[in-house]
Amino acid sequence: MNIIITKDNQELSEKACELIEQQVSEKPDSVLGLATGSSPLGTYKELIKGYNNRGVNYEDVKTLNLDEYIGLDKNDSQSYHFFMRQHLFDHININSDHTFIPNGKAADLEKECQDYEQLIEDIGPPDLQLLGVGQNGHIGFNEPGTPFDSETHIIHLEESTRQANARFFDSLEDVPKQAVTMGIQSILKSRKIVVIASGERKADAIRRLLEDQPSEDMPASALIHHKHVTLIVDEEAYKKVGHGEET
Ligand code: F6R
Repeated sequence: MNIIITKDNQELSEKACELIEQQVSEKPDSVLGLATGSSPLGTYKELIKGYNNRGVNYEDVKTLNLDEYIGLDKNDSQSYHFFMRQHLFDHININSDHTFIPNGKAADLEKECQDYEQLIEDIGPPDLQLLGVGQNGHIGFNEPGTPFDSETHIIHLEESTRQANARFFDSLEDVPKQAVTMGIQSILKSRKIVVIASGERKADAIRRLLEDQPSEDMPASALIHHKHVTLIVDEEAYKKVGHGEET
């Protein structure tokens, strides 16, 4: 694992943007795996700047998002469909037919999972997958205990994940209890993976990722087996590494 430590979230976002732009310039029809949540917000801002100021072209790029809440309509302001339009897709020249996100309102959700996994086969796997990490070590919405060989599936969100994400909703009750997520195995199919983690609230997860034995209790630790992972982490998120177990 290649580790880049940055002084803050801004520098982290610029580095992640640089890697994504490099991927798109080397292969203009790249498939990008994308994440939502707070972690990629700065990166998406930098990508939009790059589109406006450096003429980065997304015309032939395709995107595959990691996950979506079950029960939220694509136009619901809390859905990840809405998030991606709001924070990236509406601001760059990507073709909306080239952007893929699981449908959390599908009538047959099991079929939706199978179809999404097939889509990853058909258009993917991502040339570059951008990942955030949950405080409990989840990647996508693969909560602790998810098998490393899992494909796209329905997951019950941990209470701690719902609480962590409640900040985006009016109240905790509004946070969905389930999501469709790419599985860990689906994520590991990506050719390159860029993991970003910023701020003190990620410090325990980053310490566990870098210091503990890989285990299904820590989903992000599956990445240790992947050949091409870059972890970009700011000083706050890195600060518990090298100081022994938290007490
Ligand atoms: C979102 C996703 C999640 C987040 C994780 C961290 O698509 O896949 O794994 O990356 O929950 O969330 P933030 O970035 O909000 O701390």
